[in-house]
Amino acid sequence: MKVLVLGATGATGRHVVHMLLQQQHHVVALVRNTETLSALDTEFGNQLTQIKGTALTLSDSQLSSLIAEADGVVTCLGHNLTLKGVYGAPRMLVRDSIKRIVNLTSAVRANPLKIVLMNSSGVRNKDQHEPISFMQHLVIGLIRALLPPHRDNEQAADYLRTLDVSKTQLQWTIVRPDALIDQDENEEYDLYPAPIRSAIFDSGQVSRINVARVMSRLLIDPELWHHWQGRMPVVYNSA
Ligand SMILES: NC(=O)c1ccc[n+]([C@@H]2O[C@H](COP(=O)([O-])OP(=O)(O)OC[C@H]3O[C@@H](n4cnc5c(N)ncnc54)[C@H](OP(=O)(O)O)[C@@H]3O)[C@@H](O)[C@H]2O)c1
Repeated sequence: MKVLVLGATGATGRHVVHMLLQQQHHVVALVRNTETLSALDTEFGNQLTQIKGTALTLSDSQLSSLIAEADGVVTCLGHNLTLKGVYGAPRMLVRDSIKRIVNLTSAVRANPLKIVLMNSSGVRNKDQHEPISFMQHLVIGLIRALLPPHRDNEQAADYLRTLDVSKTQLQWTIVRPDALIDQDENEEYDLYPAPIRSAIFDSGQVSRINVARVMSRLLIDPELWHHWQGRMPVVYNSA
């Protein structure tokens, strides 16, 4: 399988790339800096292709040919937690990267491209009943107003969720992790169709490595894909 990875140099993206390579898949990583993945480059040789550029900076023809050749796309994009990363351009990094890929997909694909998007448990799936308290509503409203990255995650999810996939060559799953932690042990994880706790007042945890496991397994395992395709699973480390 050939997988195009966006946000491949990030804390979660690096795990995704490593896992896919370990399982003999070919990874095409869009990167801003080729140093971050240099150890994996050395270890896995021509299984890993690094392309310097982003989904927002590559030309239409460059991105189209990557989309045409890929079996799947994983996006682990996230804003750098600096003033520039949070408030500078591109404000809608995640949404606009996904949009660009979707817009180019139909023209170059005869079969559907699978996209797995890393999002957040603080983003609601408006296609189903996901009740939240008045206080959470208020706090999320404030976060939405003050922090563009949350707005970006919401809009990226809404964009895919409301897409008429019958008119595209695309299938999607949006993975919503609860609070991310770094942990290397082999903890179990659980997937739920909706949050089972408040993302603001009672958040759980999930390791980035488990998020990477979920995202790569979705692409690799057709049964798992069939189950979650077009849905927004929430992932927590098992209690
Ligand atoms: N923190 C939490 O508890 C939490 C919980 C749930 C969900 N999330 C979401 O999880 C996602 C990823 O988390 P993470 O911790 O793995 O992220 P991360 O380590 O910050 O990685 C972000 C990735 O996005 C890339 N990136 C940043 N700005 C970019 C730009 N302008 N153009 C192109 N690429 C850009 C980074 O590239 P460089 O390496 O070049 O900077 C990096 O590869 C985020 O969307 C976040 O909102 C976070």
